[in-house]
Amino acid sequence: MTVIPSQETAMSQQAALEARDLSVVYPGSRGRGPARAVDGVNLRIGKGEIVALVGESGCGKSTLARALVGLVKPTSGQVLYQGAPLDYSAKALKQYRRHTQLVLQDPGGALNPKQNVYDAVALGPRLHKLTEGLPERVHQALARTGLRPPQDFAGRYPHELSGGQQQRVVIAGVLALDPRVIVADEPVASLDASVRGEILKLILQLRDELDLSALVVSHDLGLAWNIADRVAVMYLGRVVEQGTVEEVLLHPKHPYTKALLSVIPSGAEDWRPTLLTGEPPDPTAIPPGCRFHPRCHRWATASEKERAEAACDRRALPVLAADVSHAACHLLRSNAPTESV
Ligand SMILES: Nc1ncnc2c1ncn2[C@@H]1O[C@H](COP(=O)(O)OP(=O)(O)OP(=O)(O)O)[C@@H](O)[C@H]1O
Ligand code: SF4
Ligand SMILES: [Mg+2]
Repeated sequence: MTVIPSQETAMSQQAALEARDLSVVYPGSRGRGPARAVDGVNLRIGKGEIVALVGESGCGKSTLARALVGLVKPTSGQVLYQGAPLDYSAKALKQYRRHTQLVLQDPGGALNPKQNVYDAVALGPRLHKLTEGLPERVHQALARTGLRPPQDFAGRYPHELSGGQQQRVVIAGVLALDPRVIVADEPVASLDASVRGEILKLILQLRDELDLSALVVSHDLGLAWNIADRVAVMYLGRVVEQGTVEEVLLHPKHPYTKALLSVIPSGAEDWRPTLLTGEPPDPTAIPPGCRFHPRCHRWATASEKERAEAACDRRALPVLAADVSHAACHLLRSNAPTESV
């Protein structure tokens, strides 16, 4: 498999969390073949950095997130935490999960309705035998998430809290373990629009105060704009474009990124979305050549000469390295951020 080489090898040594040529293949069932949900991903989350992972439903975002926190074992490739490959022994994983915490979409589902806020936040520390000074630890975590004074919230049950407050309790439970990395899978998707901004602001604030690193998974490119330093765009198990927020969202290079961005109303009179055509992607039947070619507007409208040269329907694309801003597309003339296709 060809990989576009990294230009900043030294940077990868600084990564808080990294996926290296990572693949997760789910076994086939009910007459369906194996699903290559994650298929050769290189992704790097630097120390103190927030990376947004975006892409449409089913592209493998949650599978990658779960592999990064050690909940799914990769079929091949590696997860590296602070430069060291993950050890999948039960003891090492337990320790790892203290440092790298997963925040899920639905706080209601994550919280036990019979457990009050104090016990919900104390759950992780108790599991890790961090019982000395537990009340202070729990109260400090609650206060950090804006649930102040913590004593007012400690005795409440989930049904006595708003959705935004519930998500703060979930995040307090994560913070009570002093994590270094948070992997948040659609952390605001189930929340009311009015509280989404507050939770995103909280994640940003925690990064600044505690120097946390975060991977934030989202369908929503607007969320990436508000919170992330860098963006990785995923399509059918692969990262197809990555770069700083400005590079990817203001100067997208990959036709898929452009299509995702084009559906956001621009306010311009001539605004026309580039609708993605064709079947939704299926990881049990990955197309040959560029896996995006059956739905690619750029390929569909390419000249005869371009089609003959690019051969997108037959010629495989290189896998992107983790540290470089670039996109994987045969019809890009250069990887310069301002290049337009
Ligand atoms: N346990 C599993 N067994 C088999 N296939 C699975 C399993 N979990 C996920 N998949 C498949 O892997 C692909 C990626 O799923 P995943 O949940 O990672 O996508 P996603 O990008 O998070 O989607 P969404 O945005 O809808 O949450 C999908 O096609 C899904 O059907
Ligand atoms: S390689 Fe071809 S099919 Fe793939 S994104 Fe680029 S133009 Fe489209
Ligand atoms: Mg998901």
